[in-house]
Amino acid sequence: MSNKFIVEGLNGKKTLRGEIRIGGAKNAILKALAATVLFDDEVQMTNVPDIEDVKRMRELLLALKTEPTVLKKEIAEKFRASIVLSGPVLARYGKVEFPFPGGCVLGERSIDLFLNGFRAMGAAVEEDDSYFTITCPSTPLGVNKLKGARIVFPLVSVTGTETLMMAAVLAEGQTVLENAAMEPEIADLAFYLNECGAKIEGAGTPTITITGGNLLHAGGTPYHTPPDRIETGSFAILAALAGEDITITNCNPNWVEVPLKLLEQAGVTIETGKDFIRIKKSDKPYKMVSVRTHEYPGFATDLQAPMAVFMSQCEGEGSILETIFDGRFRYVDDLVVMGASMVVMNPHRVLIRGPKELSRKNLASPDLRGGLAYILAATVAEGTSTIDNAYLIDRGYEHIEERLRKLGLNIKREAV
Ligand code: EPU
Repeated sequence: MSNKFIVEGLNGKKTLRGEIRIGGAKNAILKALAATVLFDDEVQMTNVPDIEDVKRMRELLLALKTEPTVLKKEIAEKFRASIVLSGPVLARYGKVEFPFPGGCVLGERSIDLFLNGFRAMGAAVEEDDSYFTITCPSTPLGVNKLKGARIVFPLVSVTGTETLMMAAVLAEGQTVLENAAMEPEIADLAFYLNECGAKIEGAGTPTITITGGNLLHAGGTPYHTPPDRIETGSFAILAALAGEDITITNCNPNWVEVPLKLLEQAGVTIETGKDFIRIKKSDKPYKMVSVRTHEYPGFATDLQAPMAVFMSQCEGEGSILETIFDGRFRYVDDLVVMGASMVVMNPHRVLIRGPKELSRKNLASPDLRGGLAYILAATVAEGTSTIDNAYLIDRGYEHIEERLRKLGLNIKREAV
C-alpha cells in the first residue's frame, strides 16, 4: 500500500513556529549497521532513526544469518547503501555476492570504484546477469583475506570510501585511501571503530590509512548516531521559507556551515548555538544566491532540490551548478508547473528567477530529496497539494508529517 501527503499551503505566509528535533543521520547509521559485520560481539546503537532505509538494512543483515556471503537481490535493489555491506562481508568471509544496488535515480551511479578497490586488494571479480561475485585471494594458511593496498580514487565517493575503509579493517597489512571523501559521517564511523579496536587514521581528510587486524569488539560501548545534517539543512530552508520563529534542535551547526552561509547571504536571520539553529522571520524579500554543489565541506548535493525551492522565492536571477550527479533536476518540471521560473540549461545547470508565487499541484515524489523539496514547495504554495510516493520521503525522513504538524503546518498522510 502506498501513501501520500496532503499539505495545505501557507500562500507565502511565514507562520510556522516552535521546535523541530533532528534525528540520527541516515547516511551514518546505514554504514554503522554494515560495520557490525566486522565485530565479534553485539553492537548497541542509539539515536537510530525510524526510517525505511534502516529497515531495509536490517532485513539485509538478518538475511546474512542464513547465507553469510549473499546480499539478497530483492532487498539490496531497494537502496544504494546496500553496497556498503559488500566491504565488511568480503573482508570477514572471503567472499561476497551482491546485485547492482538500487536507490534514488540521480543519473549514472556506477560501482567501478568499489570493484577496482577490491581488485587492488587482491580480490577476483566475476559478474553474471544478476550478481557480482567477489572472492579474496587465499593465503598459505588457507584463509581467504584481502591484502592492504594503496588505492587512489579517481573521483571522490562517499560510499566507496566507507566500503573500502571497512574492508581494510580486516585486511592483511596497511591500506591507504587517497582522494577519500571527507564527510563528517566517515570520521564519526572511524572514531567508533577505533574505540572498538580498529586502526584508522586520517578519516575526515583526503588520506585515510588503515592498519588491518582482528575482528572488532564493542564490549558494551554503544554507537551513537550523529545528527542528520541533510535534515538539518532541509529544515533550515523550511524555516527560512515559512517560519515565523523556528528552532532546530539536537543538530550540529558546524556540519551545515555552507548552506547556512548561503541563506544568510540571501538575508535570512540565523542564530546558532552548540547544538541548535534558530531562524526568525524577516520581512525584507530575500536576495537571490547561486549554488554550486560540492563534496563535503561544500554545499551538499542532497540539499540542492530544497535549495531550488528557496531560490524560487528570492529576488533576482541565480543558478545551481550540480557537480556530483548528472540526473538530479527531475523535480524541476513540477515546480515550473506550480509557477516557479526555472530553466534546465544542461544536466548540471539550472537557472532560477524569482520571486514567483507557487500554486497547488498533485505531485509524486521523484526521489528522497526531491520529495522533501515538494513538501517545501507545497508549504509555500497557495491551496492544497498532494505528494504521492511518500515511501521515497520515508526512506530518509522520520515521521515527517508529525514533526511538521507540530510547527503548525496542516499536513496529513493518507493511504492510496
Ligand atoms: N561514482 C562512480 N563510480 C562509483 C561510485 C560513484 O562513478 O563506483 C560516481 C557517482 O555516479 C557520482 C559520484 O561518483 O557521480 C559521487 O557519488 P558517491 O559515490 O559519493 O555517492 P554515493 O556514495 O552513492 C552518498 C549518499 C548520497 C549523496 C552522495 C553524495 C549514501 C548512502 N548516499 O551516495 O545520499 O548524495 O553520497 O554526497 O551515503 C541521499 O541521502 O538522498 C543520497 C542520495
